[in-house]
Amino acid sequence: MEFNTKAASPETIKADCLAVGVFEDLGMTASARRIDRLTGGAVRAAVASGDMGGKRGSVVVLRDPAGVASARVALVGLGKSGDFGDKAFAEAVAATLRGCGAGVAQLAFALSDWKVKGRSAQWNARALVLAARAFAFRSDELKSKDPANGDAPANRKWRITLVADKRDRALDTGLRQGEAISNGMELTKRLGNLPGNVCTPDYLAVQARKLGREWGLKVQVFDRRQIEALGMGSFLSVTNGSVQPPRFIVLRYQGRTGAGFADPVALVGKGITFDSGGISLKPGAAMDEMKYDMCGAGTVLGTLRAVAELKLKINVVGVIPTCENMPSGSATKPGDIVTSMSGQTIEVLNTDAEGRLVLCDALTYVQRFKPAAIIDIATLTGACVVALGNVHSGLFSKDDALATELLAAAGAAGDTAWRMPVDDDYQDQLKSNFADMANIGLPGNAGAVTAACFLARFVKDQRWAHLDIAGTAWRGGAAKGATGRPVPMLTEFLIQRAA
Ligand code: BES
Ligand code: MN
Ligand code: ZN
Repeated sequence: MEFNTKAASPETIKADCLAVGVFEDLGMTASARRIDRLTGGAVRAAVASGDMGGKRGSVVVLRDPAGVASARVALVGLGKSGDFGDKAFAEAVAATLRGCGAGVAQLAFALSDWKVKGRSAQWNARALVLAARAFAFRSDELKSKDPANGDAPANRKWRITLVADKRDRALDTGLRQGEAISNGMELTKRLGNLPGNVCTPDYLAVQARKLGREWGLKVQVFDRRQIEALGMGSFLSVTNGSVQPPRFIVLRYQGRTGAGFADPVALVGKGITFDSGGISLKPGAAMDEMKYDMCGAGTVLGTLRAVAELKLKINVVGVIPTCENMPSGSATKPGDIVTSMSGQTIEVLNTDAEGRLVLCDALTYVQRFKPAAIIDIATLTGACVVALGNVHSGLFSKDDALATELLAAAGAAGDTAWRMPVDDDYQDQLKSNFADMANIGLPGNAGAVTAACFLARFVKDQRWAHLDIAGTAWRGGAAKGATGRPVPMLTEFLIQRAA
């Protein structure tokens, strides 16, 4: 899919199709009115006949419109102008691609009057790219034959032009950001959707190395012996039941020259390539979805890809502890006590609370880079899904400034988060009679918060935030698939930091 911008009157653009908007309450937008005049009332006729009432998602195609250089004009219903927000905009873009006709590959948008409340032209351009790319995304690399026929909307070789009346650099910036973020999200989605027997810890390491080669990142991959030498007894305890060897991946993107690799932002991603629960085995229903338990790792890789493509002037270190959580005769048992890299001991009361066990050692490790901020990203708790559903990611931080910055980026990117508590009053739940701490709190009692509180014990005096993406990283049911979140939020955060 290719994108560009053009400064011209929409009717002079020679495309297979020109898309103009019609609101339900306001009627024709300015460009629709212009097309109406040129065509001698063709748009007005479509509206008057009831064919185009401006309803959200509706599309009416006019062929060979007089006075218009494009072969078709697509009238796109934008709904009520007062409701035209982020979501309606993305839906309208998708509806256009779906409905503009099977013969269309070159599509021009007369976008200047598809105004979204509170959003800039740059945002519009970026959101258009994100919506079009999301519409066309498929995960069918493991299907034996190409399932969609050649001219299905998702398969077409789209060339999309954004038409503006005058040259606007902000549109080009928006397009570039949209493409980089889409590329990052698609990497995250692809890795998430791959099954556990393909996307193993070593597969993630190979992907990290490939990303490093393509985008000039420094990549290190530690194997079991090296992880042992680092003293990561907590991380390694999760690998005991699996025949897949663990990997510890470190990626460095240096966008600031001089002063070496100073003050990086650290992104730490949970990389459980399959979470069976271990000896504390999960119930069978929807267990396949635990292949998505590496979406934190996928987010780190996707975000680094976007950051590298945008050449942001910032240093970023990505850290990924990755392994499988499986039951076997050699697996960690409930009650086992392990020693983390920090020296703190942990009583593993439930082997299904494994994410925190791999993350705590990664959080200890990453502090050697003296990061300006540490953000971990993890499909950490079912309790976070109970609290926030599939709408917001859970944001936990003791640092108000960092939390505010992340929430602002989340809002700007339309990839939202909701702040949750992490105060020490919850720490009591993690007391153990036999070790420094237990790995779970009380059943049915603030499970997302106690998980964050567990992690907080490993980042004393650090600027740290934790994103629980258990509810937002993928969708289940008929539309099962990874979402690519929170790549947009984190990329926006890094764009803002680099500026
Ligand atoms: N990966 C899961 C969290 C999860 C569960 C994400 C369901 C999305 C949907 C995590 O490793 C886990 O199993 N957490 C346990 C913790 C509990 C044992 C304290 C949970 O949430 O049930
Ligand atoms: Mn688990
Ligand atoms: Zn897990």
